Amino acid sequence: MEDKKYAIITGATSGIGIPTAIGVAKRGYHTTLICRNPAKGEALKQRIVAETGNHDIDIILADLTSLEDVSKASQCYIDSGKPLHLLINNAGIINTTHEITQDGYEAMFAVNYLSVFLLTTQLLPVLKSSGNQDNSSRIVNVTSEGYKMARRIDFENINAEKGFKTFPAYGHSKLALMLFNLELAEQLSYHPVNTYAVHPGAVNTNLGSGDNTILSRFLFPMLRPFFKTPEQGAATTLHVAFEPKADGQNGFYYASSKVRKLGKQAKDSVQAKTLWSWTDNRLSKFYN
Ligand SMILES: NC(=O)c1ccc[n+]([C@@H]2O[C@H](COP(=O)([O-])OP(=O)(O)OC[C@H]3O[C@@H](n4cnc5c(N)ncnc54)[C@H](OP(=O)(O)O)[C@@H]3O)[C@@H](O)[C@H]2O)c1
Repeated sequence: MEDKKYAIITGATSGIGIPTAIGVAKRGYHTTLICRNPAKGEALKQRIVAETGNHDIDIILADLTSLEDVSKASQCYIDSGKPLHLLINNAGIINTTHEITQDGYEAMFAVNYLSVFLLTTQLLPVLKSSGNQDNSSRIVNVTSEGYKMARRIDFENINAEKGFKTFPAYGHSKLALMLFNLELAEQLSYHPVNTYAVHPGAVNTNLGSGDNTILSRFLFPMLRPFFKTPEQGAATTLHVAFEPKADGQNGFYYASSKVRKLGKQAKDSVQAKTLWSWTDNRLSKFYN
């Protein structure tokens, strides 16, 4: 049997994703970067090869605001016939303005949650067949302690149309991701795949710098010097991805490389199941 390990990382072209991808490639993994900007993807690939000596770096282009792009990206990986031992759902956004994607969803909900749901569930058969009793495949969902800004999933206001505010909408998308992790863990109980949620801490990255508002132009830049470096931010993701002791900790939530307790809203298994079927119904056209 082939010993080579395979990983996919989203959002590796900036911030926390860069040292995460370098850390994965350093461990010899064949690493596929799912990114939206071909020039940034190619530059990162060259940097990873130069810094790690690992030449097994692939790029799949996808804009994670587009569900069709996400589905094409997972299909492209499946068609390659490669196994998959590690999926790091790292990409994420904070928007300070209300944006709706071409699929009709609030953009943070689309990128931070829906794209993760679709990519992960479409890749699950490969993750399952690549893991075994001694070495489970791993899914690392980079979420945020900011999920606590949402008390529950508001199915009446999924698209934040009733008064958009940046942090509550961001928190809502990350709570959806936490609940996805919870329900996925349950569904994976009898499979050689473990899923984890990770809070990287407050990290000095490009997060929230995409638009031209007071928050993105003044508040975020003012706070950034007090934040962790991207390398420090990547540490928990890499810990969870590779630490042997994390094996079997299916569904666990980590911050600062330690297991953390879940807030009440993130362990609501009834809401997790409701959200799962709500999402599954809406994404049904992507499953054949
Ligand atoms: N920074 C923090 O303090 C903090 C705190 C808690 C949680 N997090 C989480 O950590 C993760 C990484 O964030 P970061 O801080 O490293 O932010 P970042 O520097 O802005 O990087 C975000 C990454 O996601 C990619 N991305 C964003 N929208 C995309 C789209 N539509 N399609 C494809 N890729 C897309 C970006 O691609 P481009 O390079 O093309 O822009 C970039 O590679 C996110 O999930 C974030 O929510 C961060």
